[in-house]
Amino acid sequence: MKHLINILDLSVDELQDLINIAKDIKLNPLKYQDYCKNKILATLFFEPSTRTRLSFESAMLRLGGQIISVSDSNTSSAAKGESIADTAKIVSNYADIMVMRHPKEGAPLVASLNSNIPLINAGDGGHFHPTQTLADLYTIFENKSRFDNLVVGLCGDLKYGRTVHSLIAALSRYKNIKFVLISPKELAIPDFIKEEFLELENVEFVESNSLENSIKDLDILYMTRIQKERFDDLEEFNRLKDSYILDEDKMKNAKDDMIVLHPLPRVNEISVKVDKDKRALYFEEAANGKFMRMALIIKMLNSQIETSIEFSKENKIFNKYKCKNKKCISICEQELDSIFIPTKNKNEYKCIYCETLLEK
Ligand code: NCD
Repeated sequence: MKHLINILDLSVDELQDLINIAKDIKLNPLKYQDYCKNKILATLFFEPSTRTRLSFESAMLRLGGQIISVSDSNTSSAAKGESIADTAKIVSNYADIMVMRHPKEGAPLVASLNSNIPLINAGDGGHFHPTQTLADLYTIFENKSRFDNLVVGLCGDLKYGRTVHSLIAALSRYKNIKFVLISPKELAIPDFIKEEFLELENVEFVESNSLENSIKDLDILYMTRIQKERFDDLEEFNRLKDSYILDEDKMKNAKDDMIVLHPLPRVNEISVKVDKDKRALYFEEAANGKFMRMALIIKMLNSQIETSIEFSKENKIFNKYKCKNKKCISICEQELDSIFIPTKNKNEYKCIYCETLLEK
């Protein structure tokens, strides 16, 4: 393991290993209290966060390590116009491991290419959020003892919800998974997720716009917040914001052993009354995130890191076209190469940073 940018950077075996370590940490926390003595974790959060940043910081402190952090982009040199590449080079000298959240899709990938310490993506725009997936997977495994043979409902903002994208990528590698994708059509799952992780992998899925109709079939219900900050049009957000609200009535139609997950923060998509239902596991899920992050930090600090990775030019299109996604890091970072690589089915090209398909 070098950097964790995409959840698929971890093999299925590595994921299981992290779950086993996290379980041991949860049971025997004191055993791990000196594992990261004299090590420093840097957290660079250029977007709001409570859980992810604090759980990383708490994780490092519980391992006996120390933390340095940027929690507000206005107080760092990013506000002066420093590039992601330069920031990563500098932070590499001050810490042993780095965690980055950024509003631009692909920013942590760019940082990792300029870092000689391990880097963890803590959320890049509406793209990916692999460490939330670690919390999700731990909670699923703890409660279901398997990742195969599950019907997984994902409900809400499947377009901008980066946790949804990473969770689909992770679960699509297991056997007999069926996804029920519940969203208004405006917030449906992006094409690159649908093609690469579902269609080409022959993973069964249905799209639905009704939580009421779908809930009875589910083993897992993953609720999400409508991602207000990603909308270009606030009117559209206001129209869609109350699309789905999970309440006690809907829970009556769910299986007795269905579990409800949510990456949090919740706005109003789950009624507070559902919190006392034994199937509501989202607060436990947030707690589990810290144990998985502890396991991840231990593993990554013990891995070898390859420095200055160069992209080979083979099969790639360099600097001939610009990415059409205005939230892509490649169109705002100075002098960054635009790079497009073939999609899995080899019929098209996609941006290496944000996965948007190339429009010539
Ligand atoms: C999520 C995120 O930041 O994408 N939160 C988190 O990290 N737990 C989900 C969200 O903000 O809705």
